[in-house]
Amino acid sequence: MPKDSAISCRSLLGGAPTGSTSAAAGIGSASPAEALEATSAIPGRRPGQTTMVNVPFDAHGTVRVGVVGLGNRGSGMVKGWAAVPGAVVTAVCDVRADRAKGAADQLVVRGRPRPAEVTGSTDVFTRLVTRDDVDLVYIATPWEFHYEQGKAALLAGKHVMVELPVATGLKELWDLVDTSERTRRHLMPAENCSYGRNELAMLRMAHDGLFGDVTNGHGGYLHDLRPLLFSDTYYTDSWRRLWHTRSTAGLYAMHGLAPIAAAMDINRGDRMTKLRATATEPKGLADYRARFVDRSHPSWKETYVSGDLVTCLIDTAQGRIIRAEHDVSSPRPYSRINTLAGTRGIFEDYAGVTSGGAGRVYLEPDHGGHTWREFASYRAEFDHWLWKKIGDDAANNGGHGGMDYVLQWRTVQLMRSGGVPDIDVYDSAAWCAPIPLSVASLTAGGSPVAFPDFTRGAWAKLRTGLDSRASEMPPVA
Ligand SMILES: NC(=O)c1ccc[n+]([C@@H]2O[C@H](COP(=O)([O-])OP(=O)(O)OC[C@H]3O[C@@H](n4cnc5c(N)ncnc54)[C@H](O)[C@@H]3O)[C@@H](O)[C@H]2O)c1
Repeated sequence: MPKDSAISCRSLLGGAPTGSTSAAAGIGSASPAEALEATSAIPGRRPGQTTMVNVPFDAHGTVRVGVVGLGNRGSGMVKGWAAVPGAVVTAVCDVRADRAKGAADQLVVRGRPRPAEVTGSTDVFTRLVTRDDVDLVYIATPWEFHYEQGKAALLAGKHVMVELPVATGLKELWDLVDTSERTRRHLMPAENCSYGRNELAMLRMAHDGLFGDVTNGHGGYLHDLRPLLFSDTYYTDSWRRLWHTRSTAGLYAMHGLAPIAAAMDINRGDRMTKLRATATEPKGLADYRARFVDRSHPSWKETYVSGDLVTCLIDTAQGRIIRAEHDVSSPRPYSRINTLAGTRGIFEDYAGVTSGGAGRVYLEPDHGGHTWREFASYRAEFDHWLWKKIGDDAANNGGHGGMDYVLQWRTVQLMRSGGVPDIDVYDSAAWCAPIPLSVASLTAGGSPVAFPDFTRGAWAKLRTGLDSRASEMPPVA
């Protein structure tokens, strides 16, 4: 069983224990100018440490995957790892032995070799990451463990894919960047939504100039998780609800932020420079508990402090604005928002009353009269090659409409062929930085705080990312 998972969690700004976030940042009583400076420091590189930008994987004949964390997400992703050509799951790890056994059984049922079961106390992942038969470590544990497990995998010489957030403090994000640069191993987030079919079509349309100059985008994670947060059987040890007792932060906006960042070429020609945050009062969880949760439930000892709707406004070096939102404690249908706009038009996802909605566009010169048009024909025209190639397999083997499988397939094939990852440690850090930066901004009364340049200057160069071409992928060995 994980011990003291709440207590062992790092501060949202790095270093200090939970509850002292403003002190940790040194911004508790800061002036707006000081608040802006407090988060901008760029640590120096050690001698010999160089960038991971454009660094290809070493080619692997077969990619041997080790999975850490076999709860809802980890066990669900095992199906995709088992189906991807060229991947084999060699080890599965969870502090709960029954979950590791369940994952191993699942692989055998799928006709795959039985993996090693690695189980034990909270540091059991160290036994998985140091195994000789693992090339890629996939981490799907609660957020508070991601940083130390991701770092341990890098130090053990493994590439690592970590569920978001890869870390929640600035110090930890910088440490992951530095550790990746020193070990020459890639750390990437399991950012499945970046491989969403609509998101990739939107990205290709942006690069083809359909929106003109892109000026603004809006993404987020708006998901009514209240029943799951108070369930005693869903999140292990209620880890996710406990994050709402610690600090007001934009805890998990990345699934909506990342596709907008990709469409704006963040870290590939543009970069995020400043962030200011607002938060509504934390009312949703307490209101839900009062109406639906028995008085004897342990949650009645908790106080929820994270605002229901946390909004980050992010400036970019090219003068764009991104709005990134997080709300998991209010009643509403699911949305990642996924809206992009520019001088020639706009795309809005999640529009319409049907589940998800099919998306709508308004693009000059084709459209006029202030009337939205269907996105469907644009999605067909700008469908990404990955979806054309493996869309059917994705639907059969992966959750979230298939984008989980596309993420897994692409990562494995890039590792097999010795390609450059579509998403790297710099993207990981930039997409997660709004967590500590929103804390810093809110602590400073909503003042803007500086967005660190995790690339240390490499952001200005255009380079390929998620908008890849099939022809650019080296042949698989
Ligand atoms: N990308 C997505 O679409 C998506 C969807 C759902 C969840 N997630 C992410 O997946 C992660 C896990 O979420 P979940 O819903 O599966 O949670 P969960 O509580 O169902 O599972 C967590 C698992 O981690 C295990 N664990 C805890 N500490 C461990 C340790 N030190 N070593 C090994 N195992 C340990 C637990 O025993 C449990 O089985 C989270 O980061 C979450 O945000 C991502």
